[in-house]
Amino acid sequence: MGVGVSLHPLAAAVAREGGLGIISSACLDRLVSKRTGKRMGTYDATYEEISLSKNLGGLAGINIMVALVKDYANSVKGALDAGADAIISGAGLPLSLPAIQHPKETALIPIVSSARALDIICKKWEKLGYRPDAVVLEGPLAGGHLGFRIDQIDLDANKLENLLPPVKDMARKYGDIPVIVAGGIYTHADIVKFIALGADGVQMGTRFLATEESSAPEEYKQAVLDAKDEDIVVAHRPGSPCGLPFRVIKQSPMYASSLKALRSPKCDKGYVLLKDSEGKFTLCPAKVNNKDYFCICNGLLSSAGYNRTEEEPLYTVGTSASRVDRIVPVKYLMDELTGKTS
Ligand SMILES: Cc1cc2nc3c(=O)[nH]c(=O)nc-3n(C[C@H](O)[C@H](O)[C@H](O)COP(=O)(O)O)c2cc1C
Ligand code: SF4
Repeated sequence: MGVGVSLHPLAAAVAREGGLGIISSACLDRLVSKRTGKRMGTYDATYEEISLSKNLGGLAGINIMVALVKDYANSVKGALDAGADAIISGAGLPLSLPAIQHPKETALIPIVSSARALDIICKKWEKLGYRPDAVVLEGPLAGGHLGFRIDQIDLDANKLENLLPPVKDMARKYGDIPVIVAGGIYTHADIVKFIALGADGVQMGTRFLATEESSAPEEYKQAVLDAKDEDIVVAHRPGSPCGLPFRVIKQSPMYASSLKALRSPKCDKGYVLLKDSEGKFTLCPAKVNNKDYFCICNGLLSSAGYNRTEEEPLYTVGTSASRVDRIVPVKYLMDELTGKTS
């Protein structure tokens, strides 16, 4: 998860404790080039990060967002060639994922927020001769982009426990696809509860952001420690140029500035560009409109400590960030989550 948060140190530490650590593919070209001092493109940087994580941890997965259209295929190929154990893909429907390159032993796992989305993906993947190896069901309490319209986030029907039964039914219809739930899961008891409700696994983000091994800078971790319930908001107009609601700490400097449209539009990273009518990647609403959109590429890179003096950081978290009161080693957290300690 997360630009510059979940890199090989965190993913490998999780794998060493028996979990599946997930690297975020976003902006890896810049982040790995800066770290190694060697200029790398998306394919090479992805290959490097997965290889390092597998060497140090055994298993390694990667999250590749559909919204990162320009780099999507190269991220997938780099991950597959490096032998990633899983590719998890959301922030849009990953309809073409199995068609990019034969996945061999790599599990392909879409992220959905409804049974309908899973149905659409399974139908499309069936035509490509593939069935999801598992599915992540992400509810509205998660960090990052949310797969709900802004007016649907607080609906009772969209609580994770209410979304699970129809998604489980749909997963059964396509051959018992394992369902991994995500969003607001915090304790061992939460995990036990969702497994009892029929989930086959859980995915967690926010608590791992607040670990020693997460690559988030101290400033980001401190913002998580300081965040109270009322500080965690869903950004929308101004919001993400990807068009999905995006959860942030409201004191994040880039979010606070965007409320006053203080940053003039400037596009120098281009990760979320879409194609124009000539097929060139030139379109992003944040390029031209700083009233409704913030520049998410620069905000998230800055939160990861990249370009920190030139751009303000944007801190994304899940709702449970308000419960985090200390930074712990991954081993300590995994022992707690697996019920070895309380
Ligand atoms: C800092 C942060 C960054 C995230 N980045 C991504 C991402 O790049 N792609 C994605 O699909 N999900 C992303 N997420 C969502 C997580 O993968 C996860 O599903 C979600 O946060 C789970 O909820 P929790 O944070 O309450 O555990 C991010 C979450 C956080 C907290
Ligand atoms: S305007 Fe900002 S958010 Fe949009 S593609 Fe360019 S750098 Fe990224």
